[in-house]
Amino acid sequence: MTDRYAVFGHPIAHSKSPQIHTAFARQTGQDMTYEAILAPLDGFAESVAAFIAAGGRGANVTVPFKEEAFRLASRLSPRAQRAGAVNTLMFDADGILGDNTDGAGLVADLTRNLLCTIVGKRVLLLGAGGAARGVIEPLLDQQPAALVIANRTVSRAEELAELFGRGVRACSFDAADTPFDLVINATAASLAGDLPPLSPRVFTPDTLAYDMMYGRDTPFLDFARTHGARTADGLGMLVEQAAEAFYLWRGVRPDTAPVIASLRT
Ligand code: ATR
Repeated sequence: MTDRYAVFGHPIAHSKSPQIHTAFARQTGQDMTYEAILAPLDGFAESVAAFIAAGGRGANVTVPFKEEAFRLASRLSPRAQRAGAVNTLMFDADGILGDNTDGAGLVADLTRNLLCTIVGKRVLLLGAGGAARGVIEPLLDQQPAALVIANRTVSRAEELAELFGRGVRACSFDAADTPFDLVINATAASLAGDLPPLSPRVFTPDTLAYDMMYGRDTPFLDFARTHGARTADGLGMLVEQAAEAFYLWRGVRPDTAPVIASLRT
């Protein structure tokens, strides 16, 4: 019987996940379907329950349900526990396993696709919301020389620095004014077409500026490029986090490069 998977979100119409997982399934010969499900804002748990009752085997979860999915899971992977959010669910006889593949997806895109080594490098992470929190642990596991979190509301960055420890520092955007090797935009500013108030001094020709948003050039990437940095959007992260979820569900690692290339065109 064909196994069913889905992505839950609100909105969901523009999700690329069905296209990505369908390509993975075709490439690896897995007998599965993957659909997009619009869950009502007050009906996420009910939508997931209905999908499980209809034979669903697993799901991805996107905005705004990642924290709710964390609470819904009956078991959590260590990385989901630390991220405080869940983007991948697996349904089995023991209940609902919650995982978070976002951070692993970011690190895979940086290190494998963009050939950016993180070990020994200075990393500046912009933002202190759910998106930032989800990538801190996997970044730290790469052993950067420094990880600094800059946020508009400094107290939120300080809370994350305290939560993760391991030398993570917090500051305001103003206070981040020395060069970094890697600057990652995990704020929601790009969604609104805004630029985080960042000093151009963080960028050098050796800096990689990475925006976790994808699909269009953002003011952040434009600003970074103007100040000499190399830039990348979050499309590779999207495909890599999907590949991690696919591996969890099916035990097979798809080749991400052709899928990223086809989404780019
Ligand atoms: P997400 O799950 O996308 O991280 P969130 O938890 O609401 O969403 O966090 C949004 C992040 O983007 C926060 O770091 C927020 O800064 P504050 O903590 O000061 O609110 C940041 N953010 C949103 N809009 C921004 C803007 N226009 N400029 C700079 N930072 C912004």
